[in-house]
Amino acid sequence: MLDRREFLTITGAGGAALLFGIPNPILASTEKEEKTMPYTAKDYAKLIGMEGFSETLLKNHFTLYQGYVTNTNKALDILGQMLKDGKTATPEFAELKRRLGWEFNGMRLHEYYFENLGKKGGINKEGALAKKITEEFGSYEMWEKDFKAVGAMRGIGWLSFIRTTPMGGLSTSGSTSMT
Ligand SMILES: [Fe+2]
Repeated sequence: MLDRREFLTITGAGGAALLFGIPNPILASTEKEEKTMPYTAKDYAKLIGMEGFSETLLKNHFTLYQGYVTNTNKALDILGQMLKDGKTATPEFAELKRRLGWEFNGMRLHEYYFENLGKKGGINKEGALAKKITEEFGSYEMWEKDFKAVGAMRGIGWLSFIRTTPMGGLSTSGSTSMT
């Protein structure tokens, strides 16, 4: 069963396919195509059995993630073909370029998320990250308060704590990307 967000994600991908008159990227994907595509979905099956997450929930989430990988590859494939065909000055190219950012973020953010699940312990309070947090937020507790507040905000999307380069500043951001 899909929740609202998952439903919108899948129908969104199908909607893009309709808009551009191409086959639904999810349904059109074949095993042969996957092998020639630049990105391959990683296997996170080891997370099954993790406390607090049902097998169904995890498997549904893996399927969603695989959809982002498939659609990232599809968008890249179509964009590459449009470039070869001299169709870059078209609304379809512009829209698919924007769409690529959404699909790519969906892929990468899920990978960061899955890779961080199931670990024990928190930030080493004596480490370099904790020191930097204290410099920027005044104290670890102030940072944690900010981080949790963003996570508790009403709405959809991702909560990410990032280090920006080259300045190296830290920031917590809530994105509205519906992934
Ligand atoms: Fe997700």
